[in-house]
Amino acid sequence: MDNKTVYLNGQYLPLNEAKISVMDRGFLFGDGIYEVIPSYSGNLFHFQEHMERLENSLSSIRIPNPHDRAQWLEILTPLLDKNLDQYIYLQITRGVSDKRDHAFPENVTPTVFAMCSNIVPLENLESGVKAISVDDSRWELCNVKATTLLANILLRQQAVEKGCAEAILVKDGYVTEGAASNIFAVIDGVLITPPQGCEILPGITRNVILELAEKNNIPHSEDIISLDALQTASEIWLTSSTREIVPVVQLDNETIANGKPGPIWQNMHQLFQAYKQSCHE
Ligand SMILES: Cc1ncc(COP(=O)(O)O)c(C=O)c1O
Repeated sequence: MDNKTVYLNGQYLPLNEAKISVMDRGFLFGDGIYEVIPSYSGNLFHFQEHMERLENSLSSIRIPNPHDRAQWLEILTPLLDKNLDQYIYLQITRGVSDKRDHAFPENVTPTVFAMCSNIVPLENLESGVKAISVDDSRWELCNVKATTLLANILLRQQAVEKGCAEAILVKDGYVTEGAASNIFAVIDGVLITPPQGCEILPGITRNVILELAEKNNIPHSEDIISLDALQTASEIWLTSSTREIVPVVQLDNETIANGKPGPIWQNMHQLFQAYKQSCHE
């Protein structure tokens, strides 16, 4: 096992020495939230936005935030390597209680865990990936970045077993997002992504793309997308912090456009790379 240094409850220690109690509510109930924050050359990308989402996730499930933003930065910085593109995984659970009871325990201290991993670029980015559409079987708080990911895991696994990279989730005939990504589609020349709300995670990558589209006069809108409309799209992208912008070239065995990443993706991919670079110059 890679024995890198991780952070657990105030201590930096080798991964194989980081241990939590079996009575931790994260282990027993999935009672916790997490963040994934990319770091380019040692600079955390859109750190304030990730902190804002972390604060929203914590307050939604009523876990007190154990640290302010400056303290989080101080905790995470020693885990980073200035020479690498990496991402921080940060998890906070409600903590350890002596009884297994669904209701919140009193006087519990949140468990804080953070580790850093290298970003491994997707090998087949330039050729695109395949996806399937599946029923969105998740709950009603998809805007919370909760560690309770069983539905997402089962949906992603369906995709993998069909030789696909991602499951595109559909609720009542409308596309929400991917099992671990947001979705964009180009329909009639307009770049569209479903609006924010409790049905999707407010992706940081999604917001950066919307800002880049605005700045660069790329026609765009935040609007609902039916599965029928998605099937007519000339481009489909999946976005996330670790994968960035991934073009989909096949949906449910049907080829999208000419089966190659489209021109708007090519443009946005370049804009995104240039923007990342500009954030730490
Ligand atoms: C369900 C879901 N939606 C969207 C995203 C994309 O969010 P971000 O761009 O902040 O990584 C993720 C990231 O893992 C996710 O799990």
